[in-house]
Amino acid sequence: MTLAAVMRTIDAPMAVEEIELNPVGPGQVRVRLTAAGVCHSDLSLANGTLRQPLPAVLGHEGAGTVVETGEGVEGLAPGDHVVLNWAPPCRACWFCEHGEPYLCQHAEDARAVPFATAGGGPVYAGLGTGAFAAETVLGAHACIPVPDDIPLAEAALLGCAVLTGVGAVTNAAKVRPGQTVAVIGLGGVGLAAIQGARIAGAAEIIAVDPAVAKEGLARSLGATQFLAPHAGLAKEIRSLTGGLGADHAIECVGRGETIRSAWSATRRGGTTTVVGLGSAQDPVTFNALEVAYFARTIAGCMYGSTDPAVDVPLLLEHYRAGRLDLAALVTDEVGLDGVGEAFSRMRSGQGARTLIRF
Ligand code: APR
Ligand code: ZN
Repeated sequence: MTLAAVMRTIDAPMAVEEIELNPVGPGQVRVRLTAAGVCHSDLSLANGTLRQPLPAVLGHEGAGTVVETGEGVEGLAPGDHVVLNWAPPCRACWFCEHGEPYLCQHAEDARAVPFATAGGGPVYAGLGTGAFAAETVLGAHACIPVPDDIPLAEAALLGCAVLTGVGAVTNAAKVRPGQTVAVIGLGGVGLAAIQGARIAGAAEIIAVDPAVAKEGLARSLGATQFLAPHAGLAKEIRSLTGGLGADHAIECVGRGETIRSAWSATRRGGTTTVVGLGSAQDPVTFNALEVAYFARTIAGCMYGSTDPAVDVPLLLEHYRAGRLDLAALVTDEVGLDGVGEAFSRMRSGQGARTLIRF
């Protein structure tokens, strides 16, 4: 039996329940969670903006220790520390073979298969991960080894916010030294993007969020300017960038309005990288003149365009060298019964990451 926060219906509180994990199958491992971050995508799954078979154990930003390995698992053994990957690539599909493992056609396979039972019925793992549980069972290829000297609770953040935010800047936008970057939305993902921009050598990093209490943290992680959004935001960003607009905007909210304003804040020829995962009912509009005339680029970005197996070790190098601050992204810690509390804070734009500690 394993304790887990189980989501039974959309928009209802999750109770901590006992679940029975499936036996560890071939190619799978059982992991005892040390910590799991609460991400906006969990909130989007909980309120129905994103879909997931139910009942489900959400949580996809986790780290823990391998406790059992299934038949045929190589390179992982009980006792190993791992970070969980919520979109594990199959390494064989068209996307994987063309250097885009973050778009793997099989990355979502595990989401459709139950990983546990409760009260005689199946329970699914949120994003195939199920990290809001003391233990989870998932594919060995979804586990990235982490050396023992890395604090495992902080490493959990690598699994989503940091891979996504840093990757958006370095892999997708490919920010160059000296460029100007606007980061819209300062949750765990946006604050990681700010760090990514600093690591990439950006000259100006303009942080945007209505929660003005985030200014201090944003600046301590690398932001050179902080703005609250308003109708004239794009104009203000242009005036802060020599009248041009930013070379890059990184959108980390996931709303039509913020995607549009990120785009308007970029210079002629600039790029907008959309990280935020919004609603299918929320359109973004462009007029027929401006697209070609401004020669701007807008690109979506999944999982920071990363390959976690490659990028987690790189991020750990940044961490060891003191360039990447993981602890600063954790603004609250709760137990497994604190998911609702974390969601409330997220809805009101308070704090960066809440970490569930097991
Ligand atoms: N302009 C700028 N920032 C905004 C705006 C706005 N109009 N509205 C909200 N925000 C801010 C919130 O105040 C909050 O600080 O966006 C931030 C979002 O942070 P979180 O809710 O913590 O979200 P996070 O987990 O960082 O994810 C961001 O990336 O992966 C996706 O699904 C995820 O769409 C989500 C996004
Ligand atoms: Zn996430």
